[in-house]
Amino acid sequence: MMGASSARSFTVVVAVLCLLLLLPSHCHAKLSVKLSTKFYAKSCPNVERIVRSVMAQAVAKEPRMGASVIRLFFHDCFVNGCDASILLDDTPTFTGEKNAGANANSVRGYEVIDAIKAQVEAACKATVSCADIVALASRDAVNLLGGPTWNVPLGRKDSRTASQSAANANLPGPGSSVASLTSAFAAKGLSARDMTALSGAHTVGQARCLFFRSRIYTEPNVNATFAALRQGTCPQSGGDGNLAPFDDQTPDAFDNAYYRNLVAQRGLLHSDQELFNGGPQDALVRKYSGNARMFANDFAKAMVKMGGLVPAAGTPTEVRLNCRKVN
Ligand code: HEM
Repeated sequence: MMGASSARSFTVVVAVLCLLLLLPSHCHAKLSVKLSTKFYAKSCPNVERIVRSVMAQAVAKEPRMGASVIRLFFHDCFVNGCDASILLDDTPTFTGEKNAGANANSVRGYEVIDAIKAQVEAACKATVSCADIVALASRDAVNLLGGPTWNVPLGRKDSRTASQSAANANLPGPGSSVASLTSAFAAKGLSARDMTALSGAHTVGQARCLFFRSRIYTEPNVNATFAALRQGTCPQSGGDGNLAPFDDQTPDAFDNAYYRNLVAQRGLLHSDQELFNGGPQDALVRKYSGNARMFANDFAKAMVKMGGLVPAAGTPTEVRLNCRKVN
């Protein structure tokens, strides 16, 4: 058994080795920050209540905002860990993530996070990170749309920089095969099961025509009625920005309809239908399609796991006062 001080010096040794050997993938896991559901119990006991109430208002006003915040969390965590890097506006010294391919004109919810942050700052100055706010807000979004809830481990810090190229390199695209989706998630320490569960977030929210056009006009494994329906608002040319719900039966309900849609060849994106196309995830998709509780449990677990991704060792961090810029 290691004592506290020898554990600390072990950590320092690992940190130094990591820096010297430049092995970020190994260091990532070993040096992960210890998050705790009680992190703000004394310093900001009302934080969860504040986040929930602002999210409840936002989702009541526009249910899609719940979906948008869930996606914001995913896009934050997949790029150098859950560090609110996605919230940073571009500056003269760096080009951030907001204008990366997967985010530009697409990711929404920045104003809701600002509204939460303003109330949290008023209650507990310079205490709660923007990264923790996004983690809590996405948990609440899922629940407010009818999905599960869970305890969120807290104590993340915010990055002091952001990288557009890292966002472009790490976020999977809608044309991806099941193999490349699996490896994109594996690169983050997430299993194929985590990937299939997390993709169930596509039971809420919307996508633009440019991302599903080739699916509804050219792919063989698409339900004909569904393709015709979607073609109605997504012409073969033009209308790139026209929106369609991922799930047209219950577009604002966080349920397991996503998987029933996949089984019926009604997946909206190519990458969605890849999870049920005679490949390795078919069996799990079938299980989730018939077992809402299993999906809800796995989704919650996978969100906690994804939320445990932290920036690589040595990345400078802070608790930002304004989520859009460094202190
Ligand atoms: C597996 C790989 C994934 C790919 C390729 C993918 C791709 C996409 C694309 C292309 C859109 C539509 C964007 C637009 O039209 O502007 C979208 C929307 C969305 N994604 Fe994903 N996604 C993936 C995984 C995830 C995960 C893991 C989550 C959350 C846990 C998530 C949550 C969402 C949500 C909720 C929306 C709708 C957002 C809104 O309506 O504002 N996605 N995704």
